[in-house]
Amino acid sequence: MNAALVADALAGLTAPRKTLPCKWLYDATGTRLFEEITTLPEYYPTRTERGIFDRHGADIAARIGPRARVVEFGPGDGVKAVQVLGHLRSPAAYVPVDIAADWLKDAAGRVARAFPALEVIPVVADFTQGFDLPLAPPLLGFFPGSTIGNFRREDAASFLARLRAALGEGARLLIGADLVKDPAVLVAAYDDAAGVTAAFNLNLLVRLNREGGADFDLGGFRHQAVWNAEAERIEIHLVSLRDQGVAFGGRRIAFAAGETIHTEDSHKYRPDGFRALAAEAGWREEALWTDEAGLFSVWLLGT
Ligand code: AVJ
Repeated sequence: MNAALVADALAGLTAPRKTLPCKWLYDATGTRLFEEITTLPEYYPTRTERGIFDRHGADIAARIGPRARVVEFGPGDGVKAVQVLGHLRSPAAYVPVDIAADWLKDAAGRVARAFPALEVIPVVADFTQGFDLPLAPPLLGFFPGSTIGNFRREDAASFLARLRAALGEGARLLIGADLVKDPAVLVAAYDDAAGVTAAFNLNLLVRLNREGGADFDLGGFRHQAVWNAEAERIEIHLVSLRDQGVAFGGRRIAFAAGETIHTEDSHKYRPDGFRALAAEAGWREEALWTDEAGLFSVWLLGT
C-alpha cells in the first residue's frame, strides 16, 4: 500500500469535483508513457522546444556565457540537459534535482558520460518544497518542457519565486513555456490517435488498484482532454462511462455516468502573461526565443 497515494486519492475522490494530484501519474510506467508521448506526431512541445534550443543555441550560449553552473529541476532522462549543455561554452557544473533517486542517477549518468570534464552533483529533493543547493551562486536554473504548465497560475508565481530564492544571488533561469494556440491543435496533443496519452492517464487507476487496493474497472472509464478557454489550460480527465461504485479505502466511491476525475492541468501562456508571471516572482526577461509557428517559448530570465 502506498499511504501517501491513498491519502491524496481519498481526499480527491470524496471532493465535490473529483480530482487527483498529477504527480501520481509519474511512476515508472507513467514516466515511460510520457517519454513515448514526447515522440508522438501530435505532441509538438518537446520537438519544438528542441528545435528552438538548436536553432538559437549560439545565441543562448552567448547570453549565458562560459563556465555556467546549471541546476535542472526534474531532469527526466537527462537528454535535454545533454542537448543544451552541448551548446554552452565550457559549462562547469550540472546539478540535477529530483525527488526520485533512481531517475536522477539516470540523468546524472547520461550527462557525466557526455561531458567527462563536467562536475555532476545530483541532489535528491522535492523541488516544489524548500531545498538547499550544493554550489555557491551564481547559478543558472534550467526548467524546460513547460513543466511550469502543471502549476496553477498563482502557484506558478510562488514556485518561480522559490526557485529564485534557492538559486541565490545573481540567479538566472532558462525555462520553456508552451503557448496558447488553436484549441484543436492543443486537444490533439493531449488526446493522440495512438492512445498513448489515454494509457498514461488510465495508468492512474491501475496504480490505485495495485498500490491503493481499489477495484476500478479500467473498462468503465475513458480518457478526455478538454481546452478550458477561461483558464487557458488543457485539462485531462478520466470520464466514468456509466453509473458505478468503486471500493476504495474502506468506502464505496460513487460515480455518475459522465462524471470525471480531473487528473492533470497543462496551462498555456501568452508571452505577455508569462512575462508578467515572471515579474511577479521577481524575474525579468533577458531574452525570449520562439519557433516560427509561435507554438512554444523559451525564456532566459535574470534577477
Ligand atoms: C510534463 C507537464 C510538460 O503538460 O504537456 C503531456 C504532461 N500530460 N501529455 C504537458 C503531459 C499529458 C506535460 N508536462
